[in-house]
Amino acid sequence: MKNIVILISGRGSNMEAIVRAAIPSAHIAAVISNRPTAGGLSFAAEHDIACEVVDHTAYGSREAFDAALAAAIDAHEPDLVVLAGFMRVLSDGFVEHYAGRLMNIHPSLLPSFPGLHTHRRALEAGVRIHGATVHFVTATLDCGPIVIQAAVPVTSGDDEASLAAKVLREEHRIYPQAVRWFAEGRLRVEDGRVKLAGADVPAVLGCVPAIDAD
Ligand code: GRF
Repeated sequence: MKNIVILISGRGSNMEAIVRAAIPSAHIAAVISNRPTAGGLSFAAEHDIACEVVDHTAYGSREAFDAALAAAIDAHEPDLVVLAGFMRVLSDGFVEHYAGRLMNIHPSLLPSFPGLHTHRRALEAGVRIHGATVHFVTATLDCGPIVIQAAVPVTSGDDEASLAAKVLREEHRIYPQAVRWFAEGRLRVEDGRVKLAGADVPAVLGCVPAIDAD
């Protein structure tokens, strides 16, 4: 059984998808938020998962916050720390401490559109395929080894909200899958690329051709 700690900042729908997946080899040891008002905390509490808040506004520096956060996480002896809509940039020391056991989901097909406002930027760029990426976290933002991606078509009627909704549906599919693979001990990183035991192709789900029906 692998211990999983999930970090959230808000709604927590990805955390919810991971919890609902009820992965047999994964124990959700805690959900930790940097915001006391994060909506996802109530879902976690209702599911008898230990909930904690490490409020970043109470700390004078990023390093002080990260140290407090790491102490709260490490109390649960995690095999994997899952960033699920956790909206804080983490210090290099924090990332190093969790090297190989820190995952993130990003709402774009990385390496396209790292950073914020991915759906707006995808629409502005006119891409025909957009999506989401689960990756291991390294010191460079939104840049670590890719575990799984899912693609969605961008159609002429899409706006930021509709595209976000399409991508979020895929996030809820691929994040539990990535956590499951990790918990089953099937992931390893070689030369900056993720290898999945039992599969010799890159793990891509839901790739849909971009066809605009006008
Ligand atoms: C998701 O779109 C995730 O990819 C991004 O922030 C959003 C969080 O949503 N990092 P939720 O809190 O999981 O509902």
